[in-house]
Amino acid sequence: MVRTVKTTPYPDQKPGTSGLRKRVKIFQQPRYLENYLQSVFDAVEEKAGATLVIGGDGRYFQDHATRIALRMAAANGFGRVIVGQNGLLSTPAASHLIRCNGALGGVIFSASHNPGGPEGDFGVKYNIANGGPAPEQVTDQIFDNSKGISRFRICAQDIPDLDRVGTFDLAGMQVQVVDPVADYADLMQSLFDFDAIRSLFDGGFTMCFDAMHAVTGPYAHRIFEQMLGAAPGSVVNGVPLPDFGGGHPDPNLVHARTLYDVMMGADAPDFGAASDGDGDRNLIIGRGMFVTPADSLAMLAANAHLAPGYAHGIAGVARSMPTSAAADRVAASLGVPCFETPTGWKFFGNLLDAGTVTICGEESAGTGSNHVREKDGLWAVLLWLNILAVRRQSVAEIAREHWKIHGRNYYTRHDYEEVDSTVAHDFYIQLRDRLGGLAGASVGGKTIGWADEFSYDDPVDGSCSTGQGLRIGFSDGGRLVVRLSGTGSVGATVRLYMEHFEPREGKLDADTQQVLAPLIAIAEELTGLRAATGRQEPDVIT
Ligand code: G1P
Ligand code: ZN
Repeated sequence: MVRTVKTTPYPDQKPGTSGLRKRVKIFQQPRYLENYLQSVFDAVEEKAGATLVIGGDGRYFQDHATRIALRMAAANGFGRVIVGQNGLLSTPAASHLIRCNGALGGVIFSASHNPGGPEGDFGVKYNIANGGPAPEQVTDQIFDNSKGISRFRICAQDIPDLDRVGTFDLAGMQVQVVDPVADYADLMQSLFDFDAIRSLFDGGFTMCFDAMHAVTGPYAHRIFEQMLGAAPGSVVNGVPLPDFGGGHPDPNLVHARTLYDVMMGADAPDFGAASDGDGDRNLIIGRGMFVTPADSLAMLAANAHLAPGYAHGIAGVARSMPTSAAADRVAASLGVPCFETPTGWKFFGNLLDAGTVTICGEESAGTGSNHVREKDGLWAVLLWLNILAVRRQSVAEIAREHWKIHGRNYYTRHDYEEVDSTVAHDFYIQLRDRLGGLAGASVGGKTIGWADEFSYDDPVDGSCSTGQGLRIGFSDGGRLVVRLSGTGSVGATVRLYMEHFEPREGKLDADTQQVLAPLIAIAEELTGLRAATGRQEPDVIT
């Protein structure tokens, strides 16, 4: 039986960089989740009889949310829902299921790398039929709907446990509970040389993969240990937990510090990697060598042809604006285009759909390709393993050879978190208003070549996205970028990105923060960020 329930709008349901992300407590308000889901369903057409994918990273509140979403999907006329066993689906696996089942879209419950548990964050993302995040026209429509919502539809039936693979009927809608790993593992096997990787492990190659008690645990156990023969125990923290074991499932040098320390130690394995809450981010560390995500993107693009799925080469590369220009250099040497897009994976979708690019990435530990329409943590790890299996060199050797050929883009990001929103917005606007007068000025011994606020004209659909961050370019190729995060749930996060290009052979092995120290000082002189926020230093340095 379908019920139509009266409701009133919440004013704060504007999707950010990656869906609606809020504290669990906000989502627990009466009808908050239902309002948002109905606003999503009202924004998509041709639902009658269509297929929807539902899954998430297993965080606290997801079990409840999955049941509500199933009951609302049935009441909104969907014909079939594909849902991961126990509700689990990594974001890239959900993207793949949408694509390979011809689904209309998918609802993914995740707040990505944000902490979980009752005091943590929850999130809802909607992906469209190409498997990628809803573009801005759709997210704007969802927000509009949420502001005027007066009712939602839900069916009354209870949902059985989703712990067994199989099919059941829900008010005339078919619910298919699937193994979250199977189809995704098949896809990986079609892209990478599993035999070569298996023989690498057979030869004694060692690896440590930190699943951070998040969604990739079951995927990593199955693919690395069972299918590829990595030694049992190669996957650590492999059981997904609703609060991620109390950790912060963000694979960076702060939150994956234990892995980093292992990889820098005397008995380090050959290869270390980690992924985030929903499995779309990656961290790559060789023995004694951390590879920045922006460098990893460039190195993967340069070596992708070594994997069977990319043996014919890549059509082009895309990177988000704050990501370093290391990938641009690889694209130039391969003779393929490189696109600079605003932050967020949704901007890559059109380029991938049009076949203009094959590999995409962001400095925030996201890398992926045209195999799905999301970034994909395990894909990046597997491509690295495939490259290592073919080249039979260490990660450090591959990185050093890469810098020798292309030069090195020293790169860092400094985050100032939970800044008062008004302070952060005023800071941004004041800096933006000064950019016009900066070109030609000299600061800290460097000359400013250009400065602007980034906007993006999508070459595929002609849409224009403005206000996408402030850029200051120096005449020596260095660059400073300032943006406000679109994924935070409390206050504002100011991100400061700094990049210095070094082509000289003797200078390729230096410490990143030291190389960038002059630029870090210039950033403060130019922007006054620490002064404006009253902070002495950033909360997170990556
Ligand atoms: C952050 C990252 C961005 C990424 C997004 C979702 O967004 O910077 O690259 O796409 O998370 O994972 P931000 O908080 O900067 O808006
Ligand atoms: Zn994520």
